[in-house]
Amino acid sequence: MAKQYKVGVVGCGRIASLLEEDPLREKPATHAGAYAAFPRTKITAACDIDRWRLAKFRDTWRVPSDRCYRDYREMLAREDVDIVSIATWTESHCDIALLAAKNPHVKGIYLEKPITVSLKEAGRVIAACKKRGIKLLVGHERRFDGNFSRVKEIVEKKELGALKTIFAQALSLPPPKLARKKYIGGTLLHDGTHLLDLVLHYGGPAAWVMGFDKRPHGKRNIETAAGGIVMLHSGVTVFVEGGGERNYFKFDLDMQFENGRIVIGNGGIHVFQNFTSRHYTGFHELAPVPFTNPRKRENSFIGCVRGLVRAMETGREPVSSGTEARDALELILAIYRSADNGGKKIYFRGRKK
Ligand SMILES: NC(=O)c1ccc[n+]([C@@H]2O[C@H](COP(=O)([O-])OP(=O)(O)OC[C@H]3O[C@@H](n4cnc5c(N)ncnc54)[C@H](O)[C@@H]3O)[C@@H](O)[C@H]2O)c1
Repeated sequence: MAKQYKVGVVGCGRIASLLEEDPLREKPATHAGAYAAFPRTKITAACDIDRWRLAKFRDTWRVPSDRCYRDYREMLAREDVDIVSIATWTESHCDIALLAAKNPHVKGIYLEKPITVSLKEAGRVIAACKKRGIKLLVGHERRFDGNFSRVKEIVEKKELGALKTIFAQALSLPPPKLARKKYIGGTLLHDGTHLLDLVLHYGGPAAWVMGFDKRPHGKRNIETAAGGIVMLHSGVTVFVEGGGERNYFKFDLDMQFENGRIVIGNGGIHVFQNFTSRHYTGFHELAPVPFTNPRKRENSFIGCVRGLVRAMETGREPVSSGTEARDALELILAIYRSADNGGKKIYFRGRKK
């Protein structure tokens, strides 16, 4: 019988467990839900600094009381888990991941996004995992959504011609006044990390960026909006916006090709194709066509867990690796840095100016 992997979950909040209670979300919607649904994993230990959240997690996922901890150091010292899930606040990701990578039993880490709050921290976590052969998967779970994968296929096979432009938006409510030193960024960082991970996945690496921000609470506090123009090495132009003080959440990529357009995001997926215009002689226009996906769809959270286990067993890097998540963080931090410098163009990886 195939091995069943033991899992320790650090952080028992929304993405670890509580979002399972949202009746509208596709299930599973959390780390714990995915481990419970995937037959090859079992949660054997849990940790949260908050006693009520820990108790709720214990009861929901039937974790033995003596294997529930208030301090992750204690959990990692005592437990012989194969996988560690880190679903705590972003500023703690680095310290917890570094310690998890020291546990001799650990073979895989499922770390929530954004990977860390700085590139230096991200580099340390990636290096520590690499040194011990631990597979690191970051929770950009849309990468495991079959519809997003089908769009990658459309891009690669040029089914709508070459990809030319992406408008990427993560729009949300106005944020409270929060110190930038601690939280680093607003929506562009915390939701935009999903967005920019997908941009790089579809369009390839960034060449340069010019950023803007809106900081009505002052430069020391997180933005109410930030974004920029990103030029990819592939020649794809990207317009990004995060925040924007809306009374709704909008997360989507509007991808424009030579012969069509795809809008994919939280509002579903809409495809348009090039047709001879019925309104103007000699012109072509876009008209909606059905989206077809012959792939079998798997829940994204189960996909993350299956992907991590597969990487642990094959030795290959997982989809949504630490390195890919680091690249998304690099782009976001470059947007902030450019905005801090009046929109100055920032080049990546020694690209010629
Ligand atoms: N992938 C996604 O779609 C998604 C969605 C929401 C949140 N997230 C990410 O997940 C992380 C957690 O977000 P959340 O919304 O679940 O937050 P949350 O506040 O609901 O849960 C975080 C939990 O971690 C606990 N915690 C904090 N520091 C700890 C520590 N040092 N040791 C043990 N427990 C600790 C808190 O008490 C809390 O219960 C963040 O990095 C966030 O960006 C990802």
